[in-house]
Amino acid sequence: MSEKTIVLTGDRPTGKLHLGHYVGSIRKRLELQDQHQDNFYLIADLQALTDNADNPEKIRSNVLEVALDNLSLGLDPEKTTFFIQSQVPEISELTILFLNLVTLARLKRNPTVKDEMKQKGYGENVPAGFLTYPVSQAADILFCKANLVPVGEDQLPVLEQANEIVEKFNSLYGEVFQKIKPLVSETSRLLGLDGKHKASKSLNNAIFLSDPREIVEQKVMSMFTDPGHIRAEDPGRVEGNVVFQYLDAFDPEKEELEKLKRDYQKGGIGDVIIKQRLIGILEDFLKPIREKREALAKDPAAVMKILQEGTLKAREVSQKTMLGVKKAVKINYF
Ligand code: TRP
Repeated sequence: MSEKTIVLTGDRPTGKLHLGHYVGSIRKRLELQDQHQDNFYLIADLQALTDNADNPEKIRSNVLEVALDNLSLGLDPEKTTFFIQSQVPEISELTILFLNLVTLARLKRNPTVKDEMKQKGYGENVPAGFLTYPVSQAADILFCKANLVPVGEDQLPVLEQANEIVEKFNSLYGEVFQKIKPLVSETSRLLGLDGKHKASKSLNNAIFLSDPREIVEQKVMSMFTDPGHIRAEDPGRVEGNVVFQYLDAFDPEKEELEKLKRDYQKGGIGDVIIKQRLIGILEDFLKPIREKREALAKDPAAVMKILQEGTLKAREVSQKTMLGVKKAVKINYF
């Protein structure tokens, strides 16, 4: 089997992306597309529908939004094949075959799915498509034989399940697929503005890549810092302080930042000072992204064209994979 590295990443089109996504996985995507020849970027509309079956409009409109987010961050269609999951029917075919290789008990044990089910209050009334999304996610990755997948930490159990499917498939039908290597970014996921939860689009506690300057300012000014740091003279805490977590992720002047932390801990630095610093740094980072996004958003047809061309490319690959798969499973009749 070839040793070639094939990279695949993806997003559910359920909302715009935020800084937590950038730090958690998109930064890694950008590095990888310069290091490898074969890169795929999937917009997982079918997966998004598994818990939004009643709201197809939302998924449809967000296909364009996540494409715009990724393009404006620098994911480059010349290097990365952008495509839409539902338009590659071989992914669904492969999902049907993979479903035979997992048990209901195993599906119910997946900690990521368990958490999400709890959040959504599904209990036993979970849509079957939602419970089985890790299986279709395995097909998202394996249809093009991708073997390197940069993801946020929460996706590790999903990839573990995908690798169990690889093992089972290969042991039943012969060596068709390679193991998938997850790549988790070293930086931990950003906190939300309140400091209580991770940044999340559903909790609306994040700074979005498309937020205008005024909104970024408002959000930074509302960030949780240290409730014990009442007057500027008081010593302040850096751990759990959302402003410092964001500075750690985005401040290019690491030495200055370390000094600022020491001074803050000693006392004498007001929260407004650290917040102003963060606003300036985020604005430097977001301004070019925002401008590129606005320019791209003026011509949605051109963005859809990128998705369409990428989808055609993905289909060529998927058809080739399915020939091998069908042969292995002995469903190649004609
Ligand atoms: N489940 C991923 C998320 O919620 C999105 C996704 C779907 C994905 N298919 C994928 C990620 C394949 C990596 C590989 O973020």
